Amino acid sequence: MGFFKFIAFSRLCVALLFLAELVTSVGGIGVNWGTQTTHPLPPATVVRMLKDNGFQKVKFFDANSSYLSALSKSGLQVMLGIPNDMLSSLASNVEAAENWVAQNLSTYVSSNGVDIRYIAVGNEPFLSTYNGTYLNTTLPALQNVQAAVVKAGLSTQVKVTIPLNADVLESSTNLPSDGDFRSDIRDLMLEIVKFLSDNGAPFTINIYPFISLYNDPSFPVEFAFFDSSSSPLNDKGTIYTNVLDANHDMLVWALQKNGYGNMSITVGEIGWPTDGDKNANAKSAQRFNQGFMTQYSAGKGTPLRPGQMDAYLFSLIDEDAKSIQPGNFERHWGLFSFDGQPKYQLNLGSTSSNGLVAARDVKYLAKKWCVMSQSASLQDSQVAPSVSYACANADCTSLGYGNSCSNLTAQGNISYAFNSYYQQHDQLDTACQFPNLSVITDNDPSVGDCKFIIMIQSQSMSLVGSDGSRGRGIVPAILVSSLLYMILWMP
Ligand SMILES: *[C@@H]1O[C@H](CO)[C@@H](O)[C@H](O)[C@H]1NC(C)=O
Ligand SMILES: *[C@@H]1O[C@H](CO)[C@@H](O)[C@H](O)[C@H]1NC(C)=O
Ligand SMILES: *[C@@H]1O[C@H](CO)[C@@H](O)[C@H](O)[C@H]1NC(C)=O
Ligand SMILES: *[C@@H]1O[C@H](CO)[C@@H](O)[C@H](O)[C@H]1NC(C)=O
Ligand SMILES: *[C@@H]1O[C@H](CO)[C@@H](O)[C@H](O)[C@H]1NC(C)=O
Ligand SMILES: *[C@@H]1O[C@H](CO)[C@@H](O)[C@H](O)[C@H]1NC(C)=O
Ligand SMILES: *[C@@H]1O[C@H](CO)[C@@H](O)[C@H](O)[C@H]1NC(C)=O
Ligand SMILES: *[C@@H]1O[C@H](CO)[C@@H](O)[C@H](O)[C@H]1NC(C)=O
Repeated sequence: MGFFKFIAFSRLCVALLFLAELVTSVGGIGVNWGTQTTHPLPPATVVRMLKDNGFQKVKFFDANSSYLSALSKSGLQVMLGIPNDMLSSLASNVEAAENWVAQNLSTYVSSNGVDIRYIAVGNEPFLSTYNGTYLNTTLPALQNVQAAVVKAGLSTQVKVTIPLNADVLESSTNLPSDGDFRSDIRDLMLEIVKFLSDNGAPFTINIYPFISLYNDPSFPVEFAFFDSSSSPLNDKGTIYTNVLDANHDMLVWALQKNGYGNMSITVGEIGWPTDGDKNANAKSAQRFNQGFMTQYSAGKGTPLRPGQMDAYLFSLIDEDAKSIQPGNFERHWGLFSFDGQPKYQLNLGSTSSNGLVAARDVKYLAKKWCVMSQSASLQDSQVAPSVSYACANADCTSLGYGNSCSNLTAQGNISYAFNSYYQQHDQLDTACQFPNLSVITDNDPSVGDCKFIIMIQSQSMSLVGSDGSRGRGIVPAILVSSLLYMILWMP
């Protein structure tokens, strides 16, 4: 080609690159930042990590000021959360909502430069396991918060939504096209959808193929992932090759049938855990999340909604203080472990890097562990109550069938429990005094994929220094029932 043609061509290339950049920045992936951890990383460290990894949006489950302050002028877009236990007070009077908005929204937007775009009212409030507890309060809370946002003059930039679990939908045939809102809450859902639509807010839905598989052992495993076409679903000519697309489009159908076919949809949570169940491991999590990200980055969308999707990965960091009532996997959803280390490689489609970037300058406690002493006997009557106590007060969710530490010896199991308790208690000497059973060691007891962790410094510790005075020693013997012991240790 001639010189001028070449110039024109390279200009075109530059323009196209610029356009591509715009497209990726519009479609920047979001991530959920859950904070139920015994030892949170410093918020500034996490914000740095979010930026290093090219995340553009972050979703919270509350509006904690230490995290919001760290996001000041970060350029990240924020979704705040309102926990379910606040719904009834916000529903009962609009002043409560106005206070919430004044304290947790207006101050950050106006004087602290935090780019808040959404407020999530409640979190999956209509889950069947809640037995209808939040049915009467969710919509009034949504209405009051919306009114408060309007009154604060922020309704153009801040949209108010409700993250709902995909279980608000049902389909008698499992086909997306037969989907509608769950019959017991259909009228309520229609009121909510109308309200969201009137205020230009998106419908936020959390979709969990892992839970589908966890709840139903006969669920076709391959259909959970994005890279397989072994068990496609033919919905009257539309072919679905994965659960996410099918669930998402079931929502599109439900909206369409009720007159809201154009409503925008945000996927509030999507992810896969790495431990705590036989289907939860780094390999499957990598396969799922990479499959999702590849489809997401290409702007592929779903059969009924081709184009860029709006989504938040679940989740950023493991949370060792989360309730395990739904299952042991609950503490293992992070792309990163508790200390901000990537658990597997993942290409998020950002131009800067090909894999996940670890948190910087993480401060760990000393390299030492609490383990069962060599002289202790497995037959010692103190073993059962000690392990039971340690597991009830720390984190043993990696032990157990199919998990990362399922192949330990009996001594290994006991050591794992002791160490978890010791590390969560900031390596206090008194937290490794299981009666004549435990000893502190410098030798890493980790075996293969089963990591015996070293805790990070807690924030209060790095501020005031560790003198051990905050610690509680262990109170051995028959403190807790041996139920947990039986669950964990009986063959
Ligand atoms: C906010 O987060 C910090 C750090 O995790 C925690 O210490 C504090 O209790 C939280 N505040 C509220 C109101 O939850
Ligand atoms: C938000 O505001 C309310 C006051 O209405 C307050 O009780 C609450 O602790 C604040 N912070 C969070 C994290 O919700
Ligand atoms: C819901 O009801 C079941 C059965 O009655 C009960 O076991 C469970 O604790 C209840 N859950 C809540 C959140 O109230
Ligand atoms: C919700 O309201 C209905 C009708 O007023 C009432 O029967 C029901 O007990 C309420 N449910 C809760 C959980 O408060
Ligand atoms: C929905 O969006 C499509 C495409 O943007 C448009 O043609 C159609 O008129 C819209 N329908 C409604 C009901 O807004
Ligand atoms: C260690 O604990 C795991 C999980 O609780 C159990 O499956 C396993 O049998 C235990 N190993 C030994 C040798 O006791
Ligand atoms: C545990 O051992 C079994 C049988 O040898 C093996 O199949 C499994 O992969 C091992 N699990 C881990 C987490 O190493
Ligand atoms: C520890 O062992 C010593 C001697 O081996 C014994 O005297 C003592 O009672 C034991 N302590 C406990 C708490 O079991």
